Amino acid sequence: HSSALPPTHTGNGGETHQTAGGDVPVMTTQQGVPVADDQNTLRAGATGPALMEDFHFREKIFHFDHERIPERVVHARGYGAHGYFELTDSLADVCHADIFQRVGERTPAFVRFSTVAGNKGSADTVRDVRGFAVKLYTKQGNWDIVGNNIPVFFIQDAIKFPDFVHAAKQAPDRDFPQAQTAHDNFWDFVSLSPEATHMVMWAMSDRAIPRSFRFMEGFGVHTFRLIDAQGRSTYVKFHWKPKLGLQSIVWNEALKINGADPDFHRRDLWQAITSGHYPEWELGVQLFDDAFADSFPFDILDPTKLIPEEVVPIRRVGRLVLDRMVDNFFAETEQVAFCTQNIVPGIDFTNDPLLQGRNFSYLDTQTKRLGGPNFTHIPINAPKCPFHNFQQDGHMAMHNPKGRANYEPNSWSQPAGGPRESADGYRSFPAEVSGAKQRQRSDSFADHYSQARLFWISQTPVEQTHIRDAYIFELSKVETPAIRARMVSHLRHVDEGLAKGVAHGLGLSPLPEPAKAARPVVEGLKP
Ligand code: HEM
Repeated sequence: HSSALPPTHTGNGGETHQTAGGDVPVMTTQQGVPVADDQNTLRAGATGPALMEDFHFREKIFHFDHERIPERVVHARGYGAHGYFELTDSLADVCHADIFQRVGERTPAFVRFSTVAGNKGSADTVRDVRGFAVKLYTKQGNWDIVGNNIPVFFIQDAIKFPDFVHAAKQAPDRDFPQAQTAHDNFWDFVSLSPEATHMVMWAMSDRAIPRSFRFMEGFGVHTFRLIDAQGRSTYVKFHWKPKLGLQSIVWNEALKINGADPDFHRRDLWQAITSGHYPEWELGVQLFDDAFADSFPFDILDPTKLIPEEVVPIRRVGRLVLDRMVDNFFAETEQVAFCTQNIVPGIDFTNDPLLQGRNFSYLDTQTKRLGGPNFTHIPINAPKCPFHNFQQDGHMAMHNPKGRANYEPNSWSQPAGGPRESADGYRSFPAEVSGAKQRQRSDSFADHYSQARLFWISQTPVEQTHIRDAYIFELSKVETPAIRARMVSHLRHVDEGLAKGVAHGLGLSPLPEPAKAARPVVEGLKP
């Protein structure tokens, strides 16, 4: 790169014109036509009207006018970085996915961290869940683990997601709040949805105000399947464990930081990576079988439940290192499209009803957000292994089939015949299914309080104080007394001391009756 600025001359309006030459490239239009003057419209006379034939002006303004695309409906604010995944312990005993075979092998990765509720321009240190989405460009295609920094979720069935997100984001009449949970709609919804109790506990904890992305855990949340070379299935939960450990800020720091530097988490990641302090996570897996699933007191398909690490220890199998910032935020971080349905041979879904719904939602929303069916052709989304198929056309098609064949089977020999199926291709695990079609939720999903209590008792006294104070702060912003009382009625199943503390902080007396519980609370970790 030339360190000298390009030569200049001054226009007759006093404007500075910098000129190309040497290693300073020539500015061109999108058609490659060299530009002589980028600062003055073509006019009829010095003070006359602009001329329609000024193709350079029209192209430049037209392109500017179309710069915006819709932000994500959730997780709109995020920050991404490149890196790699390195296998440290082969999982070949339980999984035939190529990425898990050869210890020491590196797979390129792209990660996007995000907040959930805030808009694209909102602040970083709000109380919220953080997205932790990992795209692994494996040799058998892209595998996305689209997770969060909290191991459970607010709802059990994807059909409730639009309601949950509507309630969490701005109210339709007033268009606030933009980024905080502190408002009636959110608390109204979660207080009417006892299944949210466990995740709300996490959201009121220090986990929801991480010090930076580098100090967060990540979780795949759902139970997935690993499939071995013989086609046998093992259940798995995915975990990302930060090398730097877990750190949070405290609430009044969060408020001050948001005011002083709303880009706090972005700046942290940028500075760490550009100065060579590459953040790193270990990939951990919890593995278990049907016998364990049947003996566990909660349903392993219920995304509001976790499997305690004391019960199923974590096996650490690899490391994720982020070592390169993007060249262009829009091209990479904004256009990246993570999708729970992006899985590879050796990995499969389970019947978690939240996961099943997500598998529809991501592709659907990205088709709109990224302008049509060809967003997989954008470099950040394209696989880094060879890919061939007969899908064609549509807006912005970059990879149409070559040659005569755009269908199969066909009679043409290579190369005209194009790609063919492979015995090593993706096969779904042949899980047995039966039962009548119905909309009823499984009874095995009905215990909403036991794991909330488990979380509470896992916290240190200081952390418990933070949780209690967060409930008091957030609920004190709720204007509707019945909603505050309803929340306390759930907390009475979690912990009497917590319920009383929150009620006291809110000046709620008498103490609301405990909510009607579909299932009694069970104590302890073990099945
Ligand atoms: C975006 C995680 C549940 C719909 C995201 C992102 C993450 C995430 C990390 C941001 C991806 C990025 O950085 O680009 C999760 C987790 C869930 C969950 C861990 C529960 C376990 C759901 C459900 C739905 C849903 C139930 C819908 C039925 C979406 C949509 C986006 C999104 C539409 C925007 C995607 C885009 O525009 O690219 N989610 N989500 N999510 N999620 Fe979820």
